Amino acid sequence: MLHVENLVCRYGKIEAVSGISLDVGEGQIVALVGANGAGKSSTIQSIAGHVLGAEGRITLAGEDITALPPRERVRKGVAIAPEGRRLFRDLTVHENLSMGGFCRPREREAANLKRVLDLFPRLAERIHSRAENLSGGEQQMVTIGRAMMSEPRLLLIDELSLGLMPKNVDLCYEAILRLKREGLSILVVEQNTTKALQVADHAYVLSSGRLIWKGTAAEARDDPSVIQAYIGSSAH
Ligand SMILES: Nc1ncnc2c1ncn2[C@@H]1O[C@H](COP(=O)(O)OP(=O)(O)O)[C@@H](O)[C@H]1O
Ligand SMILES: [Mg+2]
Repeated sequence: MLHVENLVCRYGKIEAVSGISLDVGEGQIVALVGANGAGKSSTIQSIAGHVLGAEGRITLAGEDITALPPRERVRKGVAIAPEGRRLFRDLTVHENLSMGGFCRPREREAANLKRVLDLFPRLAERIHSRAENLSGGEQQMVTIGRAMMSEPRLLLIDELSLGLMPKNVDLCYEAILRLKREGLSILVVEQNTTKALQVADHAYVLSSGRLIWKGTAAEARDDPSVIQAYIGSSAH
């Protein structure tokens, strides 16, 4: 579904991502893990088209989307749940979710909303609450739900579990497993590797802008010291 080739991101003189390549197969969950500052957000934001001057080649289901602006990528089926959530704090859950469907016909909104509320029943109870009054877990559900309103083929999630209570981490991971079963392809970025590796098919480890390990999540789970060592060393 997604193929990234030789991605490079620079911010002035800082090279945040130094030529990485990765794939997400159709219906797969792929985990991209690494320490704070490794370049995970730069990678995922580049796939969404939000990093100016990113170099490399990105294809979605075989189609080159490298030159497309963010909104065209959304139309093609790329949706992102960004780090920090970026909700409109003074708008309601319903309004935030509606915003995610901006590129799809209005008549499909009700069905898409129903699907999101089915995925996160908690949001149905909070539908008229303002985003700023939600718990962190509920805000993360809105963020994922907003992405789902655009009917994606590829869902990008940055720091799915960061700052969430364990119960909400589980709810969010159950939701993405369900989306995977429905055929969605998912790239999940995490500093917290344990949970991501439990659900992923494949994993990549990023350190200082370079991929230093890739393999199946099962391999990584069988030898967690491998990944822990990389993350430990890259944290310094
Ligand atoms: N907008 C920006 N301007 C300048 N430097 C940035 C910017 N965004 C990220 N960086 C730098 O790029 C590197 C990678 O950051 P980031 O992609 O956010 O990593 P991660 O998501 O893995 O924590 C870091 O050194 C960070 O300071
Ligand atoms: Mg980040």
